[in-house]
Amino acid sequence: MKSLQFSMLLLSLVLAALLSFSMGALPQEDFLQCLSLRSNDSSTISNVIYTRNNPSYSTVLESTVRNLRFNSTNTPKPLVIVTPSRTSHFQATIYCSRKHGLQIRTRSGGHDYEGLSYVAKVPFVVVDLVNFRSVDVDVENGVAWVQAGAILGEVYYRIAEKSRTLAFAGGVFHSIGVGGYISGGGFGLLFRKYGTGGDNVIDAQFIDGNGRILDRKSMGEDLFWAIRGGGGGSFGIVLAWKLKLVPVPATVTAFSVSRTLEQNATQLILRWQEIGHQLPDEMNPDVSMFSVNSTQDGRKTILASFSSLFLGTIDELLPIMQQRFPELGLSRQDCSEMSWIESILYFNQLQNQPLEILLNRTFRNPVGGQYYKIKSDYVKEPISETALNGLFSRLSDEEASSAIIIFMAYGGIMDRIPEDATPFPHRAGNLYKIYYNVNWQEQDNVNSQKYIDWSRRVYNYMTPFVSKSPREAYANYRDLDIGSNNVGITSYTQASIWGCKYFKNNFDRLVQVKTKIDPENFFKHEQSIPPLH
Ligand code: FDA
Repeated sequence: MKSLQFSMLLLSLVLAALLSFSMGALPQEDFLQCLSLRSNDSSTISNVIYTRNNPSYSTVLESTVRNLRFNSTNTPKPLVIVTPSRTSHFQATIYCSRKHGLQIRTRSGGHDYEGLSYVAKVPFVVVDLVNFRSVDVDVENGVAWVQAGAILGEVYYRIAEKSRTLAFAGGVFHSIGVGGYISGGGFGLLFRKYGTGGDNVIDAQFIDGNGRILDRKSMGEDLFWAIRGGGGGSFGIVLAWKLKLVPVPATVTAFSVSRTLEQNATQLILRWQEIGHQLPDEMNPDVSMFSVNSTQDGRKTILASFSSLFLGTIDELLPIMQQRFPELGLSRQDCSEMSWIESILYFNQLQNQPLEILLNRTFRNPVGGQYYKIKSDYVKEPISETALNGLFSRLSDEEASSAIIIFMAYGGIMDRIPEDATPFPHRAGNLYKIYYNVNWQEQDNVNSQKYIDWSRRVYNYMTPFVSKSPREAYANYRDLDIGSNNVGITSYTQASIWGCKYFKNNFDRLVQVKTKIDPENFFKHEQSIPPLH
């Protein structure tokens, strides 16, 4: 009898231990204990740790969940969130995560389209750089040291405080984090004039899996090359970037011209495909397409909106457009002059708002749903009218009522920067990039699959008309449909499926860098670069 009681007791102890392990209690407690032992300033590290019991845990976690698809009760949540305020906090978190078998997900602005900076299928810790966001602008030397947790809006604002004729070649959307943006390449209003964000980085501060703090000199040119476009979350944590600032005129011009199919939009897009990439480097021409109800008869049609920034005045722009693209009929009324920083507000549809809105990290774009699925393509040959009509017909599907497809012209300096200058390989030979965005509202999230299926159908439909072998994709427009690492062991062959789409021939060099800096593959996620085993 006694031995039965003893066995029952033993069994219940084992069950309790297993249960607490499966609920994450054990690794979390060991991890927390490790953090306080490891950190030489335990009083400050305790202020930046959020466990699930902390009343601020959800607020901190949700603060930069941009794609609300990944904010449901079923979404796996981190055991702990750490928001380091000192480099020693990063070191302690890396050391203790390694020691206790927890994965790290690094988050700067939280814009990852697949939520990889705050979602993982294994026990994990989020390192959120919200407290690492100083921006130090040196106008005299045309440089800025920017901590990776700053958002682009903070960078633009701090530059504009000191100069209205200097800028950074960053993206349009102001709440994007500098950490992820540059890690994946970085494309924006100035990219045809000055290249990607990564092309405009001249130094970095970085922490590796052994807690070493490295700069460009101490990390070496291979790693410095890899972190400027090889995708975030693969090599270590970028703490700060030293950015090269670029000159912009005091007055720039923004324009937008919209035409429906009935107003000749198809012919205009066909013409735009021919000349968009040849327009001056001072422009970033794009065409956004979406379905609308016609004002004449209420039937569905497609509205194509042609827009661009121009680094110059209206008087300089109009003759260029008259000569190169007269069919568009661009008039003075379609154009607005402003400063470069104001153009960021314009393209965020925030005209008339104070510049301070650019500092708002939690601001959400009022346009479109906050639940979305994104894909990308590159186009090397103009698409035929028949193919375009097929695309329009799909844009008129019921699931696409809030979808938007944007053609973004390439050319300019992108044709002159070699493909291997940084890991971002989409340079000469591209007419334009396609951005596919299907989005929906909270009340329709139960039907999310139908929207995701729609985006897959459109992507399949476009296969014959876009780049091939590989079918190129933009790493910052993360899309797990094109492939994913296994949860456990990664494979070079498997990763090259999407790796070659994102990085083309640069993928092999990224694998070599990864093998050297992180051979044990500590920094990993569904689309991280694998080491060679
Ligand atoms: P987030 O914090 O989610 O990180 C993205 C990835 O980088 C993750 O894998 C993460 O782990 C890793 N990472 C983040 N910080 C890191 C660090 N400090 N060190 C190492 N790894 C780090 N892109 C573009 O080029 N031009 C554009 O105009 C836009 N516009 C745009 C609008 C909107 C609304 C969204 C949601 C996204 C874009 N993007 C974009 C895409 C965007 O550039 C891309 O998602 C970036 O990776 C976002 O960087 P965050 O730091 O915000 O994301």
